[in-house]
Amino acid sequence: MVNKITVVGAGNVGATAAQRIAEKELARTVVMVDVAEGIPQGKGLDQWQSAPIEGFDSRVIGTNGYDETEGSDLVVITAGIARKPGMSRDDLLNTNAGIVKSVGENIKKSSPNAIVIVVSNPLDVMCWVAKEATGFPRERVIGMAGVLDTARYRAFLATALDVSVRDIQAMVLGGHGDTMVPLISYTTVSGIPITQLMDRPTLDAIVDRTRNGGAEIVKHLKTGSAYYAPSSGAVQMVEAIVNDQKRILPCSAWLEGEYGMKGLFLGVPVKLGRKGLERVIEVTLTADERTALEKSAQAVREPMSVVKL
Ligand code: LAC
Repeated sequence: MVNKITVVGAGNVGATAAQRIAEKELARTVVMVDVAEGIPQGKGLDQWQSAPIEGFDSRVIGTNGYDETEGSDLVVITAGIARKPGMSRDDLLNTNAGIVKSVGENIKKSSPNAIVIVVSNPLDVMCWVAKEATGFPRERVIGMAGVLDTARYRAFLATALDVSVRDIQAMVLGGHGDTMVPLISYTTVSGIPITQLMDRPTLDAIVDRTRNGGAEIVKHLKTGSAYYAPSSGAVQMVEAIVNDQKRILPCSAWLEGEYGMKGLFLGVPVKLGRKGLERVIEVTLTADERTALEKSAQAVREPMSVVKL
């Protein structure tokens, strides 16, 4: 347990993440910040009132300013507008860049030693905005996308194979967009290569559904995007860091030459522990996977070039 975790954004992703963090008692105090008057206060109070029933002692509070967030050990940024049907994540670019930049500047002032987990979209670009705005090293600015995309892939595989999700190991790398790269060569069911259990057309259809997993939810909801699985993804990263678990998870990391790339955030396997990003792990890729990863990097670089910081 750490002393304080701040969640910026009291929308569906932020509020659900705050509740999950509190239920797992990952911090003594969980602070929810949002510009909307009354929303973080009301949701925070409501969550704290669930504590006697759920049996957790993490105190949840909501606020519109950064005073209460001072000295946070960890900050999860979920602020920004969500996708509506027909919108791509890049459509959110400039609005969310402005929001994340201002959040980053506030974090730099109030919690200069925090580890920041970015969830706002378009994810990989917002990680860069947050890194620039805070000036934090790459160990302390990490993006949540690969955990979510991998969870979707694992959920679809578990349904198709009628096996436990627990036994499916997989990794989805690349940017959080249609160009993401589910790694078939690293997909196993309790160590059994997926290609021994499933024919290629079925697997390809699942890969395709994974790539469009976010849009599928937006299409159902009509008024917003996913939040149960995205908040689970963020909290898995929070837990790995708070409890120094040294977990190997696919996260968006600032590359400094790994995979032959630098100067951008991209989804790659990393080790998460109490220091934040403790290592970027380079795995061998097939020629097709490497090409796909490079294409995905290009899809992150393009929106980066139009954001004015
Ligand atoms: C998704 C959005 C949140 O993938 O990016 O559901």
